[in-house]
Amino acid sequence: MCGIVGAVAKRNVVSILMEGLRRLEYRGYDSCGIAVLKDGALHRARSVSRVIDLATQVEATAISSDMGIAHTRWATHGEPVVVNAHPIFSCDELTIVHNGIIENHESLREELSSQGYEFFSQTDTEVIAHLIHALLQSGVAEDLFKAVRLATKRLDGAYAIAVFRKQEPHLMVGARAGSPLIVGFGDGENFLASDALALAGTTDKFAYLEEGDVVALTRDSVTIINRKDISVERQVRRVHAYSGAIDLGQYRHYMQKEIIEQPHAIADTMEGVSGIVPELFGYEAEHIFKHINSILILACGTSYYAGLTAKHWLESLAKIPTSVEVASEYRYRQSVPNPRSLVVTISQSGETADTIVALQYAKALGQKHTLAICNVSTSAMVGQTTLHYLTRAGVEIGVASTKAFTTQLTALFLLTLTLAKLRNRLSTAEEDAYLKQLRHLPMALYSVLALEPQIIAWSDDFAKCEHALFLGRGLHYPIALEGALKLKEVSYIHAEAYPAGELKHGPLALVTDKMPVVTIAPNDALVEKLKSNIQEVRTRGGRLYVFADADSNIQHDDGVHVIRMPEHYGQLSPILHTVPLQLLAYHTACARGTDVDKPRNLAKSVTVE
Ligand code: G6P
Repeated sequence: MCGIVGAVAKRNVVSILMEGLRRLEYRGYDSCGIAVLKDGALHRARSVSRVIDLATQVEATAISSDMGIAHTRWATHGEPVVVNAHPIFSCDELTIVHNGIIENHESLREELSSQGYEFFSQTDTEVIAHLIHALLQSGVAEDLFKAVRLATKRLDGAYAIAVFRKQEPHLMVGARAGSPLIVGFGDGENFLASDALALAGTTDKFAYLEEGDVVALTRDSVTIINRKDISVERQVRRVHAYSGAIDLGQYRHYMQKEIIEQPHAIADTMEGVSGIVPELFGYEAEHIFKHINSILILACGTSYYAGLTAKHWLESLAKIPTSVEVASEYRYRQSVPNPRSLVVTISQSGETADTIVALQYAKALGQKHTLAICNVSTSAMVGQTTLHYLTRAGVEIGVASTKAFTTQLTALFLLTLTLAKLRNRLSTAEEDAYLKQLRHLPMALYSVLALEPQIIAWSDDFAKCEHALFLGRGLHYPIALEGALKLKEVSYIHAEAYPAGELKHGPLALVTDKMPVVTIAPNDALVEKLKSNIQEVRTRGGRLYVFADADSNIQHDDGVHVIRMPEHYGQLSPILHTVPLQLLAYHTACARGTDVDKPRNLAKSVTVE
């Protein structure tokens, strides 16, 4: 979603803010801006282009200051035009940046308009700015800290904000509820940011604000008041966010880098796993795992497809009934809660509002056993669940998720094995064999990555198309869904995935020689059925692009292009079959010249419902 960075210091902070924005740009890139206080006045630069353009403006104006805020935006209220770009001003006296959505903005806007406030943007953020200003102007609040505390009590919805005003020159106030905000501690300087990466190299000491916290920052002090108006301390931790994590190195795009990093990411996710034990998921895991009788998986986007894959494993290997729900749907439908269900949330960021709200809803329905599979240890989702498995994919910058997905699958397979073992459905020999396969996975992935030149050759064909169909069966149907999602996200080609058996029930009508049909063909129990599905397409003149396991005996033919994968990798085959689909999407997008890492209209972590 949006990214926030703020600083109060004794030195010029503009370069810190601009570097922070560069590192936060993955969160949203519709517009960006910076505001500082200089010689008693607010100065601002904003751009509807990328941070690099803002940097040119900033350099040209030689803007400098020891206090400022900056923002990179994923537009919700108000289209991405300069007037809606943050920082937003109120009466040229106060400035604010905001991540989130204020649901009662309309009624507040009316109230403030009737008090004479003029609105220059369509944003809900301007409402917060004027509300704080009005509380100060009327004397209801004697200072900015108090005004923000009073104002936030009137806001419904989600927010992380950073605000300052010219009358209190060395004070910055932040607040959060529903969107992330952290405090960075320096020597004679303090900071606010959406995540630690923004400030890597500037400080490694951070406190994570909790829901409803309001914080006042000066150069030498940090004061936090919680939502009950009690002064609190939040634990200060050392977080070694690695600024090099966002260096592209030899790669052209983050997506490419992150695809290539998958063998490492999976090896790191497996680090410390010497056997299948419940403690991998937390101290209370054994007790909880023995008590539960079903699993409910909640997630969005790519993480949802990881959940769909896991359902196959959990039901076939651990024999535990599993349902998988799109988080944003689950929250608003009437389901039948099962107090003995384990609620599993899957999320790269741990910030996705739809998933967090669905988790809270599941708990409110009396389903108290919760587990998060997440890539960010300090995230809200990890804080709100009893059990966790932290994937170690490292920072993922490309908006289209790649390494997060395959590490989620790794973690979900470990969960499956753990539950299978506790239910006496996993022999020691099977446990050893699966562990061996998991450990060998990085090597197997290297051999799939070596197929890249063949995939590049295919991508030229795909780049000319406007539609594509993806087919998979069983355990590989969710992989077909993920392959289609990747292609849509980064190349803007319309892509749909079907279970291959459904082809004849509708999508076959779409098949012509203009629409490539990508087929995932592992050498599993369904391979013969899949070969029939391939024929169904071929006899209608469709063009097939098949990723076939080496031992599947699917041959090149007229209109049937085959890339030969390694030999069938059993239950873990979906992880191997994901990678060529990622590469196909990536190279097709490159051939079409899209902005691969920042696809139009999307954002990396969506912290609003
Ligand atoms: C956004 C991203 C997707 C991601 C989804 C869920 O839509 O663009 O790549 O899969 O959010 O994100 P999460 O962080 O919860 O896995």
